[in-house]
Amino acid sequence: MTAPLLQIRGVTAFYGKIVALKGIDIDVNEGEIVTLIGANGAGKSTLMMTIFGDPRTSNGKIIYDGQDITRLPTHLIARLRIAQSPEGRRIFPRMTVLENLQMGAAINGFAHFDQDLERVTELFPRLKERLHQRGGTLSGGEQQMLAIARALMGRPRLLLLDEPSLGLAPTYRKADLRRHPQYQCVRWHDHLPGRTKRISCLEARASRLCHGQRPDHHDRYG
Ligand SMILES: Nc1ncnc2c1ncn2[C@@H]1O[C@H](COP(=O)(O)OP(=O)(O)OP(=O)(O)O)[C@@H](O)[C@H]1O
Ligand SMILES: [Mg+2]
Repeated sequence: MTAPLLQIRGVTAFYGKIVALKGIDIDVNEGEIVTLIGANGAGKSTLMMTIFGDPRTSNGKIIYDGQDITRLPTHLIARLRIAQSPEGRRIFPRMTVLENLQMGAAINGFAHFDQDLERVTELFPRLKERLHQRGGTLSGGEQQMLAIARALMGRPRLLLLDEPSLGLAPTYRKADLRRHPQYQCVRWHDHLPGRTKRISCLEARASRLCHGQRPDHHDRYG
């Protein structure tokens, strides 16, 4: 059997003296969508940021594609074709939409730039109409589209989306990464996309992760 693309083992993280993650284990296989759910403050966003090394895990290991990235500097982690769309969008507000997308593409040296631009603007046609508008003047939902599109421009192997549906109309929630099978991803968020097969629930104070298959009644979120 092939090893998981991402293996998180016993990850613990602190903010000062406050423990935010305590011994988290999670696997993500190549081509798999895993959804992590949990109450406010459970540590979902922290776990995603820990993969990028901020905050650093104090115990445990993060293995990506067979490489131990636990102590790797953040900028080197980003070069491994791991991309994220963080909570709160975090786009570059003074840059135009196009410049934001260029920043996403820079990570892979602008290989396939035109093709990828066409692909993400097909996914989010609203961005195509606003390529020369400054990111900071976009609406909240449009900024969310831009954050996801920017992450996709680097052709990630592992895509981490923190609450990607936040602020998006239902039509865009379904915006269909399904038609773009190259965009396999982990979604750290609040509803279950159609292709989710596995759900992990981060319990309050992040002391435990329960793993399970997608329950049928969650189809209403898809
Ligand atoms: N920069 C920080 N400094 C101190 N504590 C923090 C910091 N960021 C997060 N925390 C704390 O760590 C815990 C986990 O926060 P985190 O943002 O990971 O939760 P979450 O599961 O993403 O919640 P939500 O669903 O509200 O987005 C919370 O108790 C939070 O207050
Ligand atoms: Mg969060």
